[in-house]
Amino acid sequence: ASLTAFIAGMPKAELHVHLEGTLESPLRLELAARNGMEVSVAEQSYTDLTSFLAAYYPNMDVLQTQSDFYDLAYAYLVKAAGQGVRHTEMFFDPQAHTSRGIPFVSVITGYHEAIVDAGRALGIHGQLIMCILRDHSVESAAATLEESLRYKHWIVGIGLDSDERGNPPSKFAVVFARARDEGYRLTMHCDVDQENSIEHIRQALEDIGVERIDHGTNILEDPRLVQLVIDRGIGLTSCPLSNAIVSEGSKSGELLTLLRAGVKITVNSDDPPYFGGYVVENLVHLAGISDITRDELVLLQRNAFEVSWLAEADRRVFL
Ligand code: HPA
Ligand code: ZN
Repeated sequence: ASLTAFIAGMPKAELHVHLEGTLESPLRLELAARNGMEVSVAEQSYTDLTSFLAAYYPNMDVLQTQSDFYDLAYAYLVKAAGQGVRHTEMFFDPQAHTSRGIPFVSVITGYHEAIVDAGRALGIHGQLIMCILRDHSVESAAATLEESLRYKHWIVGIGLDSDERGNPPSKFAVVFARARDEGYRLTMHCDVDQENSIEHIRQALEDIGVERIDHGTNILEDPRLVQLVIDRGIGLTSCPLSNAIVSEGSKSGELLTLLRAGVKITVNSDDPPYFGGYVVENLVHLAGISDITRDELVLLQRNAFEVSWLAEADRRVFL
């Protein structure tokens, strides 16, 4: 098979995709029309995390009703299933909506029902990870966590995203300790080449005790922390096409160095329409700019199922 066909044919798990970041322009225009909103269709450009986020949040304003959230998640699940994704753990950002007056219940119910329906119709398995916006206050994070508790059975874990500058993991130590006590799994973004990246990675691993890190390739700056993630079997969820746009290059060299050292690296899409591709395009891009082998492409998927937050009985179905 051609390499692209091989990549498309592998059973895949995706562990780093933001549902709000899967909003394609045609759906955005459809939702705007449905909700009687005028939206700009100007080309957006971004070259770093801050300028990306400045484009990203305003685009979400078209998400208003439970059906809008349902349609967004369902469209992503159709796309992912079509690319051979069997299991996906999807981030969502409730504060990006509750801060605009949209009720938490509309967001979570729309997403949850899409996962149930897509599971039945397409056989794709999905779970939700609620992200805390790190550039909002600790009080807002704590209130969001409390609000999530009535839907705990629909949420597998808690993550941390948005603008990292000046917002280290330690800012949310109390909130994440409470999340752990409530039984949530924990992950945090440590975006590529951020200020104090290696200290943020250290805090996430040693002070917070996360089970995964999203991005996190700057860990190469500290061999002790590389050994720590190998010893603990902690996964790093990389997103090459995202890195290519918001940092200097796809970080394929770093990714392969870590993979070959025994770190559980996975490859994911982050915000597909913003960064130019879903998981297959990310893997094809990586294969095109590196000497990754087919065995290693399979290893990336084995890693993803292993470090996923599937229940053990479900994990055995996939592995
Ligand atoms: N980093 C931080 N926050 C985000 C991202 C990201 O890649 N995508 C959506 N929110
Ligand atoms: Zn991300």
